[in-house]
Amino acid sequence: MTLGYSKDGFLKLPTPLERLEGISRDTGVDFWIKRDDLTDPGMGGNKLRKLEYFIHDALDKKSTLLLTTGAPQTNHGRLTAAVAAKYGMKCAIVSIADHSGEISGNILLDRMMGAEVFIKRPEPGISDGSLLSETLAKITRDYENQGEKVYFVPMGGSSELGILGYYDCAKELALQIKNKSINVPKIFCAVGSMGTYMGLFCGIKNENIQMDLTGIAIAPFPSEPAVWARRYFKKIKGFYGNRINISASEKDFDINHDWTYGAYNNPVSEVREAIYYMARREAIILDPCYTGKTFNGILKMIDSGLIDKNQTVIFIHTGGNPGINSLPHRAEMESDLKAGFKIF
Ligand SMILES: Cc1ncc(COP(=O)(O)O)c(C=O)c1O
Repeated sequence: MTLGYSKDGFLKLPTPLERLEGISRDTGVDFWIKRDDLTDPGMGGNKLRKLEYFIHDALDKKSTLLLTTGAPQTNHGRLTAAVAAKYGMKCAIVSIADHSGEISGNILLDRMMGAEVFIKRPEPGISDGSLLSETLAKITRDYENQGEKVYFVPMGGSSELGILGYYDCAKELALQIKNKSINVPKIFCAVGSMGTYMGLFCGIKNENIQMDLTGIAIAPFPSEPAVWARRYFKKIKGFYGNRINISASEKDFDINHDWTYGAYNNPVSEVREAIYYMARREAIILDPCYTGKTFNGILKMIDSGLIDKNQTVIFIHTGGNPGINSLPHRAEMESDLKAGFKIF
């Protein structure tokens, strides 16, 4: 396989690179957004770039069903369901969670697109990781007994194969920057399972592209993010051998983890304020789990001087909008916004 080669697929590319005039004026920063929320099928988002690689691998292996895993409101699961629908395949999404049973946000869309959703409650005496492995194995066996050929897409699509979607994105962005004569930019993206960040990192360094990259963690990491990133990078480099001909030490990875607010997908008033600001200034909708936290982190870094006023910033909008329609976010937003809503 050629590195950074994107097969002609279902993605709407290149995604727009737009200057945000209002936010640039307010902040004094030359502020741009890369609209990877508009990659299209299934309401779009970053995971489609990764899934383009997985679907071709799955088709090569004559698979009939895409199986994946994530949190109940996984955007990656929803986009796996979208790709499965487009290619006439089945899809199943598995989570381990104490869930209310609410069919909203991404889960509603998963079901609309025909995916089966399995949420297994945690069990005492067994770790969530072990329970997930057991559950995935059982569900795979059940489908195989029904004659399906199951293809497993890893969580977040963040494997050696999946990261190539964002290797491509770095090249796409480099061309747009050249065509628009933009100064050397600082790129910001959310960091969850880290595939988006790592794909961009490998693309930028391996293709010798003039850009700085900062990831903003949206949940706490089990160890220093840079240590984690270096380990992940070594795995990828090992996989691609001399096709990734760069080396990297921990100091090469810039991942900020000051704005996680201590948990994954938690409702945070400052994050909602950042979401309302983007919506009211630029009519662009962010989500509370990933892009809202990331944008909030960027604003805080501008306020504290960590981002220079004359800097060119490109914020990668990685999608995730269906999350605004899930609890507890929807309830918090309804409460915040009820003042301007009148029935009479
Ligand atoms: C909307 C959105 N943005 C960003 C991310 C983070 O991407 P990654 O998992 O590649 O770090 C995710 C991951 O699920 C996502 O759904």
